[in-house]
Amino acid sequence: MGEEPWTTVGPRKRRTRRGTTPKPAVAIPAPAPAPSAPSPPSPADIDRLLTTLTALRASFRTSAFGRALLAHATHALSRHGGAASAAVCVGLGSAARAEASLRRRSLAQLACFLEVASAAGVGGAGRVVQDPAFSAADEALFGALGVRVVRAPRAREWVARGGAVLFAPFLDGAVLLRDVLPGVDPLLYVGCGDLAEMRYQPFPGSDVEQMRAVASEFMAGRTEIKITKEFEPDKYIFAGLSLYVRSIEDDEET
Ligand SMILES: C[S@@+](CC[C@H](N)C(=O)[O-])C[C@H]1O[C@@H](n2cnc3c(N)ncnc32)[C@H](O)[C@@H]1O
Repeated sequence: MGEEPWTTVGPRKRRTRRGTTPKPAVAIPAPAPAPSAPSPPSPADIDRLLTTLTALRASFRTSAFGRALLAHATHALSRHGGAASAAVCVGLGSAARAEASLRRRSLAQLACFLEVASAAGVGGAGRVVQDPAFSAADEALFGALGVRVVRAPRAREWVARGGAVLFAPFLDGAVLLRDVLPGVDPLLYVGCGDLAEMRYQPFPGSDVEQMRAVASEFMAGRTEIKITKEFEPDKYIFAGLSLYVRSIEDDEET
């Protein structure tokens, strides 16, 4: 297994002079088979994902992490009339990955996103997701949920319209600061903790000082609420996420 198939091409049959050595057979690799297209997701696959997602939404609502996050989010949103214009998720990862623990991780984060969107009064295609890792199965899952899938970098436009909720579960800091956060002002942001103090690995050619400036600008007038409670079914899925809300003084000015 794993070895390339080989075709052996022999020398043309011809008389050889006595004393001369016949040329050895030359082995050339057979052309590689054309890559087969991944088989489309079956309705049964999508049903299985939906069933797991429904169970994870229920677990999320009753978990210590979920209750704390939803309580803080609802409280913060109540200062803005209780509803958001859109809910945007960037960097979920594929919920249809082959590896079961990673699949469950993305499904649990999707459950969190849908619960936060619901708490913010956002449903249907006002829920927007973006991740280049999404597969056809993810797209079918989002289609069944009525969630809008956009290609990078379109998600940022939804946040930039104002009044949105942004969820970026463990999105690389450099992508967050280069492609998502510049110039946006979401009502709520759920993402990696310690945004103000993080040290970023710059992309080649990117300006780390500029990224730090984006982080500082984003944090000005915003308060970080660390959610230290656990998601009991798997404490590692959300560990390290914080909720960032507009500071109260900032709200009072608006
Ligand atoms: C560190 S992984 C986190 C995945 C998942 N949230 C988790 O916690 O397991 C970062 C994710 O960000 C995605 N990503 C990278 N660039 C992105 C972009 N421009 N827009 C959206 N997602 C992006 C990657 O495909 C990957 O799924």
